[in-house]
Amino acid sequence: MAEFGVDWREFRDRCDRIIKAVCSVYVGDEELIKKMLAACLANGNVLFEDYPGLGKTLLAKVFAKTIGADYKRIQFTPDLLPADITGTKIWRGNNFEFVRGPIFTNILLADEINRSPPKTQAALLEAMEEKQVTIEGDTFVLDAPFFVIATQNPIEQEGTYPLPEAQMDRFLLKMSPGYPADLNEEMEILRRRIEWKKDDPTEDIKPVVSVNEFREMQMFVEQIYVDDSILKYISELVRATRQHELVEIGSSPRGGLALLKVSRALAAMDGRDFVIPDDVKKIALDTLSHRIILNFEYAIEGEKPENVVEDVLKSVEVPKEVERIEKIE
Ligand SMILES: Nc1ncnc2c1ncn2[C@@H]1O[C@H](COP(=O)(O)OP(=O)(O)OP(=O)(O)O)[C@@H](O)[C@H]1O
Ligand SMILES: [Mg+2]
Repeated sequence: MAEFGVDWREFRDRCDRIIKAVCSVYVGDEELIKKMLAACLANGNVLFEDYPGLGKTLLAKVFAKTIGADYKRIQFTPDLLPADITGTKIWRGNNFEFVRGPIFTNILLADEINRSPPKTQAALLEAMEEKQVTIEGDTFVLDAPFFVIATQNPIEQEGTYPLPEAQMDRFLLKMSPGYPADLNEEMEILRRRIEWKKDDPTEDIKPVVSVNEFREMQMFVEQIYVDDSILKYISELVRATRQHELVEIGSSPRGGLALLKVSRALAAMDGRDFVIPDDVKKIALDTLSHRIILNFEYAIEGEKPENVVEDVLKSVEVPKEVERIEKIE
């Protein structure tokens, strides 16, 4: 696997550097950061949904900065227009010149994405899936890597526009950072503030890998072997969400692809060149829940899409472990 300019040792070393850099700022669950890294290695979009003040913006910003990629941030507001995202043609006296919007970047931080109406949110759709932007008939291909890290407050909050289903489906993962786990974490956030001497430490963060090094890591993940038994397992999980009695609309095939892509990245991060069922299980809730729409009557009774994913994980038969090569330490 050395043909991509990165071997196992180097791959894991780069992952460790990124995780360490993020953890030096963000206080919280390392698993969450690993999943986020896995999604970005799969060139996927990540959505953080949680209540205000839980470090969502901080986490997205610090992650973007640790990779030496270009990153731009858009604060979504009710009056934001599609052209504020994609760009616009401006008359320069004798001809129109296209002025590129902030979407022309590697990592786009879409902050509080559900504060803008659907038309503006939709300006991201094409870029998120097809990695290109069409403006007045002209198509512009975005430089790789390109992915969106978005944050939003839960939809019950006032002044928000729920993301349309098509847009939700384009997020590889949806995760909630949650409240600090214990008193110690709560205090650690305060200690770090004293250490930083300012509210936003992200401007001092130096990249720990270059954008080319990150691209190499992304290509490395594409080499991870996936046995047919794992493909069957993923497909059965996805299909089972569609057949579940609580469900109106189950996961799309894109949900299966998300499971595949993130599982491969997790396997590589764990030093394996093949996917095991545990990789799939670990990421099933974060990749599938946001693609499932419950029957209305069950939703008002308080059932959650997460319950469906937990059910299907219990009901679908887990394939026997794939034995391929020894784990690389
Ligand atoms: N887990 C955490 N680790 C470190 N700092 C944190 C953490 N949670 C919150 N903070 C600090 O709390 C403040 C608020 O965080 P941030 O702006 O990222 O929250 P948010 O989830 O984006 O909130 P909102 O939904 O209101 O935008 C920041 O100064 C941030 O440094
Ligand atoms: Mg925020």
